[in-house]
Amino acid sequence: MPQLPKNDLIIRIGGEGGEGVISVGDFITQACAHAGLDVYTFKTFPAEIKGGYAMYQVRAATERLYNQGDTFDVLCAFNGEAYNMNRASLKPGTAFVYDSPSDFTPDIPEGVFAYPIPMTQTAKEMNNVRAKNMVAMGAMSILFNIPVESLREVIAAKFTRKGEAVVKGNLAAFERGRELASALKKADPWTLGTPKGKQDVIVMSGNNAIGLGALIAGLEFFSAYPITPATEVAIYVAKHLPKRGGTLIQAEDEIASISQVLGASYAGKKAMTSTSGPGLALMGEMLGMAFMSELPCVVVDVQRGGPSTGLPTKHEQSDLFMAIHGGHGDSGRIVLSVESIHDCIDLTVVAFNLAEKYQCPVLLLSDGSLAFSTQNVPYPNPDNYHVVNRKRWDGKGEYRRYAHTEDGISPMTDPGTPGGMHIATGLEHNEAGLPNYSSANHEAMQAKRLNKLKNAVNDVAPTEVDAADAGIADLGVIAWGSTIGVVREALQRLRADGYKVNGFYPKLLNPLPSQQFEDFGKSCKRLLLPEVNFQGQLAHFVRAETSLRPESYTICGGMPFTPEMIVNKVKEVLA
Ligand code: COA
Repeated sequence: MPQLPKNDLIIRIGGEGGEGVISVGDFITQACAHAGLDVYTFKTFPAEIKGGYAMYQVRAATERLYNQGDTFDVLCAFNGEAYNMNRASLKPGTAFVYDSPSDFTPDIPEGVFAYPIPMTQTAKEMNNVRAKNMVAMGAMSILFNIPVESLREVIAAKFTRKGEAVVKGNLAAFERGRELASALKKADPWTLGTPKGKQDVIVMSGNNAIGLGALIAGLEFFSAYPITPATEVAIYVAKHLPKRGGTLIQAEDEIASISQVLGASYAGKKAMTSTSGPGLALMGEMLGMAFMSELPCVVVDVQRGGPSTGLPTKHEQSDLFMAIHGGHGDSGRIVLSVESIHDCIDLTVVAFNLAEKYQCPVLLLSDGSLAFSTQNVPYPNPDNYHVVNRKRWDGKGEYRRYAHTEDGISPMTDPGTPGGMHIATGLEHNEAGLPNYSSANHEAMQAKRLNKLKNAVNDVAPTEVDAADAGIADLGVIAWGSTIGVVREALQRLRADGYKVNGFYPKLLNPLPSQQFEDFGKSCKRLLLPEVNFQGQLAHFVRAETSLRPESYTICGGMPFTPEMIVNKVKEVLA
């Protein structure tokens, strides 16, 4: 069983969009990871390009991390808004680094360790106003023992493309920040743990990890329309796919992108698109077409706050109803949901494998928290992944694209294959692919298309049960998506306090592995299902598909759960 993190430090940086908050968070993350610490980050920023509150939280520890943690130990505020937004969390014992003199004068709560740093003033004196963030980072590197050599390396690496003068100016501002902090008396207890030493890791966001997983699975064609928080998947794929001879198109909208994906799949290519809720809604009709014409495709949905344009840059797990049931005319699809950054790599490969095997749309759900969070992951070895390719016609006998077979899977051909020509149509069709509306044919074809999907349960690893021992637990917590990482840590804390609690972490959400749910239900006296949506979407689905009646715990404020929230809720339920 994983241990609770020790030497665990959470630094939150807040400021205005455009002030370089995100860069500082990225630099600290990279530096810690490369020095051998475990990192997990969370960031949130406004929908505007400039202005509004931007926040980046870096959690670094010497032990494995599963989430971004509770609140911060160290707050660094670039402006008055960042101070105001976080004032309530400045609890006794926290450290507070802030810009002073500045447009705000903080009222330092008792017990808070305050470190005023002239960030703006120093940057102005150095004729480099942009470098205010580097002054702040230099100061923090001294105060909290952030690996300094690694920081210098990442500053140089990041700004090289902006020119030598920018690199030099920023390194100078960083060193000045260190000098300023060295003159202060450190009184707080916060310091980063001793790193293990240089590690062969990559720091990835969930979005990049999905792109990497797709490449490992053999992605050949990608088409998408940009939409926050999914765009970064396309940016990653755009960097790497053309180099491997694949094709990437930025389509005019989501209807075009999914249509192109289906065309490419018909042409024999492994194809994928990525989007977020509003885009998935637009893809609805073509997902029906994918199901009807049995074309393999992977659709990544990075969920964000909705409905409609909603909260484009905020976190939510609220597309599950649409993912499972958002099809017209009794259509089916497989739905998977990723848990962690590493899972974004692994489960994307599984998504492709299922799409190819069952010749159907596979929806891979990620969320805003995973999309923007970064974590260190070991560099994956593509040879360690099992990759499935579609069943192809052996060229013998008469070809019937939609032939009824024992396993429900009909062999495919590429266009132009002699004797293998066929039409992929959204109309109901017979085994040869020709329109046929007879009742007997429609019933047989619907059974063929829907029944084969049920077998997907056998292709996905059994749902993980997180249990300290084999006995009956007082409470079982079912979680999906990025909430799993939060629940993992909450259960560890609860067990340390003597609670008997188990966890259950499904990745396959449609078809639901109902028997696995039932078995888990038998091992717990009560069930709780936390999720970040108002209606309790997975709880609803579990109640419909199993005999279980989990209690819903829902939030929808644009932020993920914290371990502390789950701990408190479990204690309340069991009180
Ligand atoms: N010296 C020189 N350049 C610096 C610098 C420094 N000291 N510090 C930061 N920068 C640069 C960064 O390199 C970056 O430049 P790039 O865009 O060329 O990479 C730029 O300044 C912005 O800095 P960064 O730290 O990345 O972001 P930020 O904290 O200032 O916040 C965002 C800006 C990211 C919040 C904002 O630009 C954004 O993208 N908002 C989201 C928009 C969106 O998705 N809307 C949704 C539409 S539906």
